[in-house]
Amino acid sequence: MKSLYDLDTPTLLVDADRLERNIADMAERVRAGGKTLRPHTKTHKTPEIARMQAAAGASGLTVAKLGEAEVMAYAGFKDIFIANQLVGAIKVARLMSLLEHARVRVGFDSFEAAAPLAKAAAAHGFRLGAMIEVDTGLGRAGTRSLEETLMLARQISELDGLDFLGIFTHEGHLYRGRDGGVDAEAAGRVATQMRATAEALAGQGTDCKEVSVGSTPGAALLSVEPGLTELRPGVYVFNDRTQMRRGTPLDRCALTVLATVTSVRSDGRIVVDAGTKSMASDSPFADKTYGEVMDHPELIFEGISEEHGHLMASRGTTLKVGEKVRIIPNHACTCVNMHNSLTTLRGEEVEDTWYIAARGKIR
Ligand SMILES: Cc1ncc(COP(=O)(O)O)c(C=O)c1O
Repeated sequence: MKSLYDLDTPTLLVDADRLERNIADMAERVRAGGKTLRPHTKTHKTPEIARMQAAAGASGLTVAKLGEAEVMAYAGFKDIFIANQLVGAIKVARLMSLLEHARVRVGFDSFEAAAPLAKAAAAHGFRLGAMIEVDTGLGRAGTRSLEETLMLARQISELDGLDFLGIFTHEGHLYRGRDGGVDAEAAGRVATQMRATAEALAGQGTDCKEVSVGSTPGAALLSVEPGLTELRPGVYVFNDRTQMRRGTPLDRCALTVLATVTSVRSDGRIVVDAGTKSMASDSPFADKTYGEVMDHPELIFEGISEEHGHLMASRGTTLKVGEKVRIIPNHACTCVNMHNSLTTLRGEEVEDTWYIAARGKIR
């Protein structure tokens, strides 16, 4: 048996029991709500985990990037939603190659992005699924009004090469609830807007089969809303410190970074060998901290540089140079993207190592 503490650091660790439970519970929640689950794989970027999600009943996969779609298609996944705009001639050409291997649907919020993809698909004899992205309050991409959505749907429906499937949104603004919680009222507004949009599309004669929403904090609230067809949560497989601040318990956090204490100073400062290149630099919290050191509540992760994590002991700590600690990252998705592989554990025992095949696939 190899213990996690025998591993070199920094190393990305995944608690396999927690991962399995998170995957099973989300699949059950979505099934109970009568929806389909198309998990967002940008969180783990790992075909082995996508296979676990498929085995639990996922209808297909979601990705953020064409490069992630290529990895998942070549790993054998045949139904992929690129929930993002694809723009530019190079991407159009790559997408045509991908369509030889998988059924693909793509997000659009403009005719300018849709027309070249439709033209290429038609020329190659492919059908590309088209989903219109609707802004339900996040203020990122997506159509900004019902009129805009209706007009784009009419335009897309007339393009050869595209099959208009429906609408989608990422309700990331639910993360911005009062006191750091989930914004339940905003979730209700998201469901109402998506239903009303689907009804208006049907009213103008545009068939809207798919009404897709996607976020981990929204999953519990939206899985029971009528009129929605699909959920695309991503970070639920691992959870992280951001989810913990919204009430997710520690025993749902499957992802940690194993780090070694490299320096202990007399003023209470401790340095570990996990900086921004192993933890990522996200700090969405007012206290500007960068991770939670498991089993060491006295330690505050108060600063970070490329190779160094700066911890401060608020009271006496027994940690010594050479000891190893496990740190829960603030944001699982960006943390995973820093690593080539992840090591799975049963308890403290090392079970396997998986290649994070889609890490760094930013194009
Ligand atoms: C388009 C889209 N769908 C789904 C998700 C999944 O959301 P979460 O990370 O809250 O699980 C995201 C996350 O950024 C997203 O951008």
